Amino acid sequence: MCGIIGYVGTRDASPILIESLKKLEYRGYDSSGIGLLDHGSRLIVRKSKGKIRNLEELLRSHPLPFSTVGISHTRWATHGLPCDENAHPHTDNKHQIAVVHNGIIENYAQLREKLKKQGCRFISQTDTEVISHLIAACYKGDLKEAVQRSIKQLKGAFAIGVISKDHPDMLVAARVGSPLIIGLGDDENYIASDVPAILDRTRRVIYLQDGQMAVLTKDKVEVFTFDGKKVAPKIDTVSFTIGLAQKEGYKHFMLKEIHEQPGVLEAMLKTRLAGGKLKLEGLDVSDKVLASIKKVMIVACGTAYHAGLVGKYIIESLARLSVEVDTSSEFRYRSTIIDQNTLIVAVSQSGETADTLAAVREAKAKAKGAKVVSICNVVGSSLVRESNGVLYTHAGPEIGVASTKAYTAQLMMFYLFGLKLAQVRRSTPRSRINKIIKDLQSIPRHYKELLKKNSNVLKVAEANSHFGCFLYLGRNINFPTALEGALKLKEISYIPAEGYPAGEMKHGPIALIDEYRAVVCIAVASHVYEKMISNIQEIRARKGNVIAIATQGDREIAHHAHYVIEIPRIEELLTPLLAVIPLQLMAYYIAVKRGNDVDQPRNLAKSVTVE
Ligand code: G6P
Repeated sequence: MCGIIGYVGTRDASPILIESLKKLEYRGYDSSGIGLLDHGSRLIVRKSKGKIRNLEELLRSHPLPFSTVGISHTRWATHGLPCDENAHPHTDNKHQIAVVHNGIIENYAQLREKLKKQGCRFISQTDTEVISHLIAACYKGDLKEAVQRSIKQLKGAFAIGVISKDHPDMLVAARVGSPLIIGLGDDENYIASDVPAILDRTRRVIYLQDGQMAVLTKDKVEVFTFDGKKVAPKIDTVSFTIGLAQKEGYKHFMLKEIHEQPGVLEAMLKTRLAGGKLKLEGLDVSDKVLASIKKVMIVACGTAYHAGLVGKYIIESLARLSVEVDTSSEFRYRSTIIDQNTLIVAVSQSGETADTLAAVREAKAKAKGAKVVSICNVVGSSLVRESNGVLYTHAGPEIGVASTKAYTAQLMMFYLFGLKLAQVRRSTPRSRINKIIKDLQSIPRHYKELLKKNSNVLKVAEANSHFGCFLYLGRNINFPTALEGALKLKEISYIPAEGYPAGEMKHGPIALIDEYRAVVCIAVASHVYEKMISNIQEIRARKGNVIAIATQGDREIAHHAHYVIEIPRIEELLTPLLAVIPLQLMAYYIAVKRGNDVDQPRNLAKSVTVE
């Protein structure tokens, strides 16, 4: 949801900024821009609607001068259409100050009116433009002070980068709500929305905290509170390598990330199940508390919400605890009944999703003393800082907007967490726990097998890519798999796709079925298999085209479905881990066949840091 990058150093800033900005393009891609100070102290801004390649083209026809300080931005529109004027950076009327911003300024309308009365002329429809005018109005020769005075007037979420014509060697940054990191180089320093943007330049980073601002020059980074108090920042060394943030020969990040799943889960199992013993480091909620909780409340958005739905089945089955799951955006506005005996579990790949952060804050306010555990991929993210404990999935950076490896890592974490709850609550016999542990350890091997034999999925995808509407049906623990399969397809192929509990088909979706619809049925070996077969019959009776996800060795299914995609046989509880893989691949192949931009689907963003 908007990517920002800033540079101050000794080298030419514009190529560095553009290269880094491309690594943030997954955050938004409707327009982009760059602002620089040349050493004659002119502020130069170039912007372009569309993807970063349009900005690059503009820079080829209108080259920028050598400059050692600059800011750049890739946008996901909130206020105002995607167009050149609304692209960042935004400047003040004297063209002295330039600002890039990620987030939403909630009181921008009031500020805009106030600034207009003071004579400011607004060029864009964005909320961001108030920041540049505000800083200019507060500017009395000290950029840090002007930023500090301005941000105190802002309400909402922001990560900003600011440069000023009068300070050709300085970059000022600040954050509340939206993420911002500082990269420490040799004779140069950076700001960025996310680590991959600067990973090929430095591994040393400062995670700027909410309510902090920073002043960067080429050889110094100083961090302050918004009240101007200096703080000693913690310097972290990022452990993942640049390779993880590159395509490495794959046509798309999404395909690469699908293929990374065996390795991700293997690594997880190695650290979390060393010697067959559960090691949930970071959980930081005592066994005594886990044994005493009466309810689990899971909050999440998008794909993470689907992982949460699977989590419900796992926890209910293994820990015999009542579990509620809600999308964060619904949870935060309803009068949920939770108390200190409720365990809140927040699931998020990025740890920066605004609705999930708000849901956690709401839950903490409602149920004083209740513990919050997050299942999160991004180390040091806002969600992690607001939780009592964190179960990191350590899936590595996920760049493809459609989530794949983060999802299966979240599922795996729910299995491990479910087992932990079962152990402390003595709700599942030891022998069953051991059997599940053994089966979990076979998952990476099954993944490798599934990914090796993907030609059948490709064939099925190609044969069905012309359908204008897909229905995904599943029952019980694979109902969320149906939701996730439908989400993957609609996200990247733009084909209307709906996930439904198969038993509900007769209450509405059945009206959609005819020879022009494809229906994906998750009919794996389970206690609801026969029910799924009945649903398939009902679809066939109405001329629907059936694609079944079934278990290897199932001889019956071929008599019912038009196409069968097999997954290895596994304990029923673990089937969501396997059944989702062909659905990810099928969505990918269909989107590629339709010529879509798989990694950057229209209108979406990887990390949604606005409500
Ligand atoms: C966006 C992404 C989805 C993701 C959702 C939640 O919609 O496009 O892939 O599932 O946000 O993100 P989170 O980072 O909280 O898991």
